Amino acid sequence: MPELSRRGLLTLGAAMGFSGVALGAASPAWSWSSSGSIAAVGTGTGTDPQWVWDDEIDGIMKRAIEAGQTRQINDAMRNWVNNNDPIPVDTLPPELGTWFTQHVKLPPWADMNKLKLAADFNRRKDMYMFFIYGIGGGIMSTMIPREARSVYWSKGGADMQDRAAKTFTFGYDLGDLKAMEPQGQFLVTANKTRIVHASVRHLLPQSPYWRAVADETIPISNHDILVTFHSTGTFVHKKLKEWGVRMSAADEEAFLHSWQVALHLLGVRDEFIPATWAAAHAQAAQTLDPIMVSTPEGKDLAEVLLGLTAQIDLGLTRGFLNEFVRYQLGDYVADSLSLKRDYASAALIKTGWPAYIRYREGFLPIMPATFWMFDQLIEGVAMAFLNRFTSPTTTAIEVPDMNRPG
Ligand code: HEM
Repeated sequence: MPELSRRGLLTLGAAMGFSGVALGAASPAWSWSSSGSIAAVGTGTGTDPQWVWDDEIDGIMKRAIEAGQTRQINDAMRNWVNNNDPIPVDTLPPELGTWFTQHVKLPPWADMNKLKLAADFNRRKDMYMFFIYGIGGGIMSTMIPREARSVYWSKGGADMQDRAAKTFTFGYDLGDLKAMEPQGQFLVTANKTRIVHASVRHLLPQSPYWRAVADETIPISNHDILVTFHSTGTFVHKKLKEWGVRMSAADEEAFLHSWQVALHLLGVRDEFIPATWAAAHAQAAQTLDPIMVSTPEGKDLAEVLLGLTAQIDLGLTRGFLNEFVRYQLGDYVADSLSLKRDYASAALIKTGWPAYIRYREGFLPIMPATFWMFDQLIEGVAMAFLNRFTSPTTTAIEVPDMNRPG
């Protein structure tokens, strides 16, 4: 499969996933209680995460960008990959080096046993996960107005293939067996991502194009990051449950725990991080479902992403893909993106996919006739994902130095 095809597939993954409720872009008032968070009950401040960013690192990156240190930072970070690699304090601007020294570590409440189980769970269910993140999470992101506008008008928006490849590095590292262990990479990847977000908070408000459409003055608040979590991790959990994929209670808890750690490392305050899946789904119902709406930026991104998949060499026709998007995300999203109908594919997916899952999960003794077709598809997606990110050409996460030029 050519590289472009794999990237296209991954891009689609980075951008899709939703069950389709919701109209309108206004974010309802925050009423999710911090008693459902991982912070001790009653310790939440009641603050709305919409007004919470990441003050310390935002200030550090603002000063670094204004001092023209972007290239120095990217050069210093290039070979810093594994959790146990030394932090390049000698070549980074001192205050950033100090900040990394304080932050590249697990939170005190992280439970290594759960994280190991989460990694194992990811390995056991990876084909489903890649498929849901892949066909689901990506398109969903194009229907989240703030995310679509930020992504579109930031530097990376001009090259969606590259951006998606980098975004998938995050998912891959999180799902890696040793993600949080010394030989893993997640602590480094998450912290690099956090400083990229901090840089975007400084740069994007300088874009006249973003300012003309944005409904916020500073992007990527704690609230926005939680919304993205719900379009990825929470969505995966929802679909696995819906499809009857076998998961033990310990698996579910461990998978959530890996995301709790990820959110913490991305700078989300503990008082906003859901403690249970029930609390996460309740938060998603409040923060994600009501805001899904198409925007010119999101439509454009979705077209780019879906167009790229035409190059995927999996025997996947655009009609079949459109219908799988519709199957995962619902009519509202598919109609908003004007996805053309392919009723034959729709009928095949409607009966074939549930049978495929039942057989794979051991609930159906006889192999359904369409098994190999779905199996090839899902394996192709997983392999595309794995090949891309286990190859030495993995794209580095870099601090942007500008916005999309227009
Ligand atoms: C960059 C992951 C939330 C907007 C990145 C990168 C990763 C990432 C890995 C670096 C890739 C790159 O350099 O392009 C995540 C994860 C999130 C999250 C895991 C939450 C769970 C958000 C949200 C927004 C956002 C909520 C906006 C509302 C951006 C932008 C960039 C970026 C604009 C920079 C792209 C550029 O280089 O221009 N994110 N992100 N992200 N993210 Fe996020």
